[in-house]
Amino acid sequence: MNTQEDKEGLGSNMKIVFATGNAHKVQEVNDIAKGSGIEFELPPDGFNPLENGLTFEENSLIKAQEAARISGRISLADDSGLCVEALNGEPGIYSARYDTTPQKRIDKLLNNLTEVANRRAKFVCAMTLVDKDGKTIRQEVGECHGKIAHTQTGNNGFGYDPIFIPDGYDITIAQMSEEEKNTISHRSRALRKMIEFVNSWSLDAQSYSDTDNNYSGDNFSKICH
Ligand code: IMP
Repeated sequence: MNTQEDKEGLGSNMKIVFATGNAHKVQEVNDIAKGSGIEFELPPDGFNPLENGLTFEENSLIKAQEAARISGRISLADDSGLCVEALNGEPGIYSARYDTTPQKRIDKLLNNLTEVANRRAKFVCAMTLVDKDGKTIRQEVGECHGKIAHTQTGNNGFGYDPIFIPDGYDITIAQMSEEEKNTISHRSRALRKMIEFVNSWSLDAQSYSDTDNNYSGDNFSKICH
């Protein structure tokens, strides 16, 4: 692999395809990346990955490779979800498919935790950066730990935000501003690590390894990956 060639275009104003069909998500990652010299762009039309991985990491790789395949460019993807300790890490990678609507997903989770004392949970986000040929450059994982509330509160955010209280807070994420969420969220943590990597990316081939990532999980992480 020609690392010199593959890094071309990466500099102080680099553009990276962000593997999603959701323009709001691209806006969110660009807000987090503000000032980093990196700008994320939607993939071309036709982005339609088959997310059949068994881990967040696998699904983010599948999405990144699909974006690279249709764009022919360096691409970054994320995959995220909520892992609840008392439910053996569920809903995990099935967070978006736990039930048919966002409200039903929240209701189902709260019902499954009725009279359960252990409310520990975490949001997990895996990100994979691939080169234009779909080869992994880097994987990073970000986590946001907290607990599941007994009732839902707040109207901001999306998904499980109204029932997730991050450690150090007594409000749900849905009661926070987007800026506040971006300081602690799993996605922002993974993205900041990825940006740090990209900005310090050495042309030395040794730093260009698909097995070189700095994530090591605890036991709770293992049941969720
Ligand atoms: P995705 O991989 O980012 O599309 O997330 C998959 C699913 O996980 C979403 O549909 C949500 O149900 C849940 N999820 C991921 N991130 C968040 C978050 O920041 N807040 C609330 N729910 C989230």
